[in-house]
Formats: sequence, C-alpha cells, structure tokens
Amino acid sequence: MKVMKYPIKLLLLFFQFTFLAIHSQANDQNSTTDDPYKMLHIIPNPDGSITRMKRYYPTVPPNGSTSLAFSKDVPLNTGKNTWVRLYLPINISQPVSRPVTKNLPIVVFSHGGGFIIMSTASPTFDSFLSNTASKLHALVVSIEYRLAPEHRLPAAYDDVLEGLHWVKEKKDDWVKNYANVSNCIVMGESAGGNIAYHVGLRASVLVHELNPLVIKGLVLIQPFFGGLNRTRSELRKPASFGLPVVITDLMWNLSLPIGANRNHPYCDPIIEGGSNKMLDKIKELGWRVAIAGYDRDRLFDKQLEVFEFLKQRGVDVVGNFSKGGYHGVFVKEANISEKLFEFMRRVFSSNLA
Ligand SMILES: *[C@@H]1O[C@H](CO)[C@@H](O)[C@H](O)[C@H]1NC(C)=O
Ligand SMILES: *[C@@H]1O[C@H](CO)[C@@H](O)[C@H](O)[C@H]1NC(C)=O
Ligand SMILES: *[C@@H]1O[C@H](CO)[C@@H](O)[C@H](O)[C@H]1NC(C)=O
Ligand SMILES: *[C@@H]1O[C@H](CO)[C@@H](O)[C@H](O)[C@H]1NC(C)=O
Ligand SMILES: *[C@@H]1O[C@H](CO)[C@@H](O)[C@H](O)[C@H]1NC(C)=O
Ligand SMILES: *[C@@H]1O[C@H](CO)[C@@H](O)[C@H](O)[C@H]1NC(C)=O
Ligand SMILES: *[C@@H]1O[C@H](CO)[C@@H](O)[C@H](O)[C@H]1NC(C)=O
Ligand SMILES: *[C@@H]1O[C@H](CO)[C@@H](O)[C@H](O)[C@H]1NC(C)=O
Repeated sequence: MKVMKYPIKLLLLFFQFTFLAIHSQANDQNSTTDDPYKMLHIIPNPDGSITRMKRYYPTVPPNGSTSLAFSKDVPLNTGKNTWVRLYLPINISQPVSRPVTKNLPIVVFSHGGGFIIMSTASPTFDSFLSNTASKLHALVVSIEYRLAPEHRLPAAYDDVLEGLHWVKEKKDDWVKNYANVSNCIVMGESAGGNIAYHVGLRASVLVHELNPLVIKGLVLIQPFFGGLNRTRSELRKPASFGLPVVITDLMWNLSLPIGANRNHPYCDPIIEGGSNKMLDKIKELGWRVAIAGYDRDRLFDKQLEVFEFLKQRGVDVVGNFSKGGYHGVFVKEANISEKLFEFMRRVFSSNLA
C-alpha cells in the first residue's frame, strides 16, 4: 500500500469527519469499486431521496465558531425551507454593541458539498465565513440553498438568485444599516463555485430587476465542473489525491436534471460556450471573474479549462493556480484562506478594503 504523504489533509472536504474514507482512497483499485454512498455516509432511499448520516454532518449555531464576526440566521423562503446566515465583522477598536462602520461590501456565498451534502452551518464553512467577513471587512450573506437529489439543479441556482433579490430588498437591518448593496461579489467554493458561476450568468441579464444591487464580479474557489470526457487530473493516480471520480460521478448523477448526463452545461460550461449570450453580457458589464485552484485537486484541469475558455471569450478573468493544496484547502486552512483573501483584494481592489 502506498504511504500517503498528507493522510488527513488530502481528504476532500466531504470526508472530514470520517476515517473510513482514508482507507477506501488509499488503494486506487478499491476506490473505484467501493460504494460511493458509503464513502459519503449517505443512504439512498426508495423514493429517490437520500439520508445524510447526522453524525458525519454536524452543524453549528450562528455566532458560534469564532470571535471575528457576529452572525445570525434569517429565513429566505419558508415554503422552500431556505435561509441565509449573515456575518458582520467585529471592529475590535469598537465596543461589541457597536460592531461596524457603514457601507460594507457584500459577499454572497454558496457552500460546497457536491450539491448533495453539507450546509453553510457546517463548522468548516462557518469559521471560514467569519474569517471572510473579518479579513475582507465585508458583510457575508451565505445562502442555505436546497440540496439534491430531493431538489435537483437548477434548484440551488434558483435559491441563490432568490438570495440576491433578498439582499436587494434590504429588508434585513444588517443589510440596510451596514452594507452597500451596490458593491456585491458573488462567491462560492467547490459546488458553490459552480453555483456562483451559473447564478452570475443568470444575474447578468437581470441587471435592471436587481438594481440597486450591483454585482462587481464572481469568485470561484476550486469550482466543481466536469464533463463527459475525463480530464488528466481526474484520472490521475494515486487515489490519495482524493475526490475519486466514483464520488463526483455520483454527485452529478444525483444533482443534474433527471435524464441528463455530464454532457450538460450545468456540469460542463464549455459545451454551450459558443452560444451563451450571457457570457457576452458579463463581459459587457465589466465583471471580474476570479478563479483559484491548486494542482493537487483532481478537479484542477477542468478549472484551468474553464479559465482558458473564459479568457478566450474575452471575459475579464483572473486565475490563481498554485502548486500543492488539495480540494477544500482554501476553506479548511486559515493560512490558505489568507492567500485567497489577498488574491481577492488584488482582483477587487476598488471594491474591497
Ligand atoms: C482492497 O480490496 C481488497 C480485496 O477486496 C482487500 O483485500 C484490500 O484490503 C483492500 N485494500 C484496502 C486499502 O482497502
Ligand atoms: C454574538 O455574541 C456576542 C458576544 O458574545 C453578543 O454580544 C452578541 O449579541 C451576539 N450576537 C448575536 C447576533 O447573537
Ligand atoms: C473601527 O472603529 C474605529 C473606532 O470607531 C474607527 O475609527 C475605524 O475606522 C473602524 N475601522 C473600520 C475598518 O471600520
Ligand atoms: C457603494 O458602492 C459603489 C460601488 O463600489 C460605490 O460607487 C458607491 O460610492 C458606494 N456607496 C457608498 C455610500 O459608499
Ligand atoms: C471528448 O473528447 C473527444 C476526443 O478527444 C472529442 O472529439 C470530443 O469533442 C470531446 N467532447 C467534449 C464534449 O468535449
Ligand atoms: C451514474 O449514472 C450512470 C448512468 O445512469 C451510471 O452508469 C453510473 O454507474 C452512475 N455512477 C454512479 C457513481 O452512481
Ligand atoms: C498552513 O497551516 C497548516 C496548519 O494548519 C500547516 O500545516 C501548513 O504548513 C501551513 N501552510 C503554509 C503554506 O503555511
Ligand atoms: C495567488 O495570489 C497570491 C495572493 O495575491 C499570491 O501571493 C500568489 O503569488 C498568487 N499565485 C499565483 C500562481 O498567481
């Protein structure tokens, strides 16, 4: 058996609470034959839904994980059971009762988890987002969108777009009192990066409806894209790279519309690239698109492909592709999050402090 160089770190975000996965990934042959449901600690039900084993998917209450930001949960659409978690940075030179200055930029965030698992209240995302609010000095609005397979795509895109409308309406006092809705960045990690991309496309043709909310750009952190053809990094050995295709295939199977395969624009944005008018709109609006990746992520090659594709289409896209890392590293390790924040400050220098 191969000795793994980074036994825990290489585990993708989804595996953080399990040790079974370490073993199933250690051997390439086994990882392709192992049951991806077991590896993800989900159980398929006869009605097509899945049961997510609670002890592997803990959540934390708002205002819980760090002292960097205040946070709270607010309903988004009670009929759909969606909600948002907001983070307001704490200004340490001010009393806690008077938290911040006005006119903060807004970061609208979508969490990762292959569209099927995790929550914005998962401990990793919760502390990453406190950190984001604090370090970028921004109001973070993280959308608890509906998961597949109970709600297949485009449900998640619909929910995050609804979140943008919610921000625009300024019904919440944090949005109204502390933030500048005309200075928004749409960001997401992994599956959330995919969501940020597709919500960006849709929002680009809704500029008037969303006004005074103004989007300045998109941040795609190790976005989850795929396609029918395997990329070289997807096929790469050893299996200890994490996120084997048996897992990502299952995620697509459970999240794409019924009857669709990976040759679908939700999965592979390049296939409809030639004809997608919304990309021209993004270009015309002057949005900046920032993409961050690490080459020890199996999804790396597709991320590069999407970056090159956007560049060719004339979109103002900036990449930050580094050596090392693993899938999930930007949200899991505070020192790597710091590099992401630096990158974002550079790309959005006129929007972020
Ligand atoms: C891989 O599978 C074989 C046969 O089922 C088993 O003997 C072996 O222990 C497994 N290896 C790992 C690392 O799980
Ligand atoms: C969060 O915690 C701080 C300090 O413990 C407290 O002052 C504040 O009221 C809490 N905020 C919310 C929104 O619960
Ligand atoms: C934090 O609060 C102090 C004191 O009120 C203020 O001078 C400063 O501008 C604030 N900093 C930020 C980044 O808002
Ligand atoms: C809100 O943000 C926009 C875009 O960055 C900026 O032009 C505007 O001046 C900001 N408004 C305030 C009140 O700071
Ligand atoms: C998949 O790869 C084949 C062979 O390289 C190529 O002809 C085809 O266009 C690719 N399909 C997609 C959807 O990228
Ligand atoms: C995904 O769906 C395809 C087509 O139905 C099937 O062949 C494949 O085994 C599925 N893969 C996983 C991991 O569920
Ligand atoms: C980041 O911090 C981790 C511990 O959390 C450490 O193992 C790693 O070496 C650090 N990486 C860098 C690039 O500083
Ligand atoms: C990524 O961004 C960070 C922060 O700005 C920078 O230090 C690093 O050099 C960048 N790396 C690449 C490969 O662009």
